[in-house]
Amino acid sequence: MEPDGSGTWSDVIQRFNDLHPDARIRMVEGPPATNTREDMYSTAFLSQSGGYDVVFCDVVWVPKFAAAGWLLDLSDRLPAADRQDFLDEDLKAGSYRGRLYRVPAFTDAGVLYYRKDLVADSPATFDDLKKFSERFKDEKRWGFLWQGKQYEGLVTNFLEVLWGYGGDWIDAETKEVFLDRPEALLALQFVKSTIGTISPPGVTTYSEEESRNLFQDGRAVFLRNWLYVWALTAREDSPVKGRVGLVPMVHAPGKTNRATLGGWGFAISRFTSNPETAWKFVEFITRPDQLQYIHERLGRVPARKSLVPPEFEPILRAARPRPAIPEYAQASDILQRWLSAALSDRVSPEFALREAARETRLLVGP
Ligand code: GLC
Repeated sequence: MEPDGSGTWSDVIQRFNDLHPDARIRMVEGPPATNTREDMYSTAFLSQSGGYDVVFCDVVWVPKFAAAGWLLDLSDRLPAADRQDFLDEDLKAGSYRGRLYRVPAFTDAGVLYYRKDLVADSPATFDDLKKFSERFKDEKRWGFLWQGKQYEGLVTNFLEVLWGYGGDWIDAETKEVFLDRPEALLALQFVKSTIGTISPPGVTTYSEEESRNLFQDGRAVFLRNWLYVWALTAREDSPVKGRVGLVPMVHAPGKTNRATLGGWGFAISRFTSNPETAWKFVEFITRPDQLQYIHERLGRVPARKSLVPPEFEPILRAARPRPAIPEYAQASDILQRWLSAALSDRVSPEFALREAARETRLLVGP
């Protein structure tokens, strides 16, 4: 699991253990970055010893884990009523070649938070974002925070800008790679131009929580982050309570914005010696009451139609998945490395994108 700072996951697991005295679930906390936890699971699966029975699974891990034969096929276990209630996109994202390997728990999308007490007209374009950032930043407040560390989050931030310029990364069907197209260069130039101007120089070390904490302390005008931030900034003890608005990520004039679809669910390792207990747990933790409890504590948005707050519906409908290919982790790693090299001035944006495109073609090419 992700680090359980608030003890929320421990509570839910304790509840399960209390109800099932002969089935003890033990939680293993990993590092916060999704790709690092994916590596931990992959290492365990490769040794075939298992190590983990249940997988708290990011949407982008499913094709790789399923194609490798590391997950149990859960298609016939999920009751029809649940299949109806889970969001279609999240069920689809938990499937590989028509079979379900991951039961959805939380859906997710990237959005742009802003200080509505400062910015009167909500921003629509990249220029608006720059203009309002310049206007409302001061010695204590940055313009725009995002996740620039070299990890999966950087890819999701970049994709939203790339799509907002009308570009794309990889076509999962045709395997075409678009990273050396002009739109990708515009996107990378935009992202790079924020560093040290409207965004802090340290933004290239931020992941979700570093950037949220700063924004929530009132230290920025804009924040790109996931849906969980909404509930947390609205809490009683939040210094920006009542002063935060949310819009879809901005785009270039004449283009449309797309959010990156994120999300988490539960899968079961094929190497488990306790498939029945593992299923009982997955079934338990994805029930409406547990998801609602976690929503209240962590802000995570349940992937059930009956529980999605209505204000998120249009955003989720417009969210776009990352390419669902078994080579996803490697493709993302290539992009992370080259984006990072360009953002930290080790290579030019042109060179970075050309190399990223070349390596990606070698990886996924037809
Ligand atoms: C969020 C998303 C997940 C994504 C990750 C990147 O947790 O839900 O899908 O991969 O952020 O940091």
